Amino acid sequence: MSILVAGGAGYIGSHMVARLVEQGQDVVVVDNLSTGHRKAINAQAKFYEGDVRDRKFLDSVFDSEDIDAVVHFAAFSIVPESMEKPLKYFDNNTGGMITLLEAMHDHDVKKIVFSSTAATYGVPESIPIKETDPQEPINPYGESKLLMEKMMHWADVAYGIRFVALRYFNVAGAKPDGTIGEDHGPETHLVPIIMQVAQGKRDELSIFGDDYDTPDGTNVRDYVHVMDLADAHILALKYLAEGNDSRAFNLGSSTGFSNKQMLEAAREVTGQPIPAKLAPRRPGDPDSLVAESKNAREILGWKPQFDDVHDIIKTAWQWHSTHPNGYDDRQA
Ligand code: UFG
Repeated sequence: MSILVAGGAGYIGSHMVARLVEQGQDVVVVDNLSTGHRKAINAQAKFYEGDVRDRKFLDSVFDSEDIDAVVHFAAFSIVPESMEKPLKYFDNNTGGMITLLEAMHDHDVKKIVFSSTAATYGVPESIPIKETDPQEPINPYGESKLLMEKMMHWADVAYGIRFVALRYFNVAGAKPDGTIGEDHGPETHLVPIIMQVAQGKRDELSIFGDDYDTPDGTNVRDYVHVMDLADAHILALKYLAEGNDSRAFNLGSSTGFSNKQMLEAAREVTGQPIPAKLAPRRPGDPDSLVAESKNAREILGWKPQFDDVHDIIKTAWQWHSTHPNGYDDRQA
């Protein structure tokens, strides 16, 4: 039987596909290539190009393949974009989940691992954030994913589709062998932008705000390596295969790094000066987001291999410095 990876051409999805293939698993990738890259899809996975909102397309995939479980990465994930285009997020993310769950129900597929996010918590009441803390998103991206979590809950109650929602904090890094990595167009995330400045592709980093309620005034985030994240998904599939109940897990390192600290760490790793300037706050940014990830460690048995941001940045630098134009497949 195969694992269907929706969004398997994207940044995190492609690392998951690579890990599954390494473990000898049959993998079917579904992706509309709106933000993903054909070249990022592992050659041993079977690829269907199409959209998760397209019911006929999904039915044809489920009819053709023997799918055991779904891992769902096919969503938009840029916080500032979601502030400007909220309906784009509800359409693709939330709407896509409706179609996917309906197709799973009709084809008797009963397990799903879902890319949720720290953005579902909004402004946390206390740090580190626990899975049981209130979920009150402050941006449409977080809201779209919270609705997706709720839909899975009710699909479980009604149809017995069990789920694991993995609430990621800030994902960074690349596969250490340098074959796949992060390539968004346009890029908005802190680590790849810092890498682009280090490469000389951008003049400087703009640090969005230094008057937040944090030790150095810049936002604090919890960075997780993309391969550690892929491993957590594999453990979540095992958790569901063992018949366990649906639930959510935070995935973070439990240590926060400020934007200024990330910049300093990147200067050390790359040996480049990486010029930076202060810029106004970006809408939708909470002061600090740091996870309590005890449950993922204790219940799933997750053991992240990259617990130092320098090591995470090192793999990102390896990818960016060897792929200055990313996958180099964008339309002119
Ligand atoms: N930042 C800058 N300058 C930049 C880019 C980012 O200062 O050029 C700052 C942001 O303001 C923020 C921090 O770097 O303070 C991290 O920003 P990212 O855009 O890299 O990541 P976000 O924290 O906004 O969001 C990421 C994921 C979301 C997820 C969230 C949870 O993109 O999907 O982490 O922590 F929900």
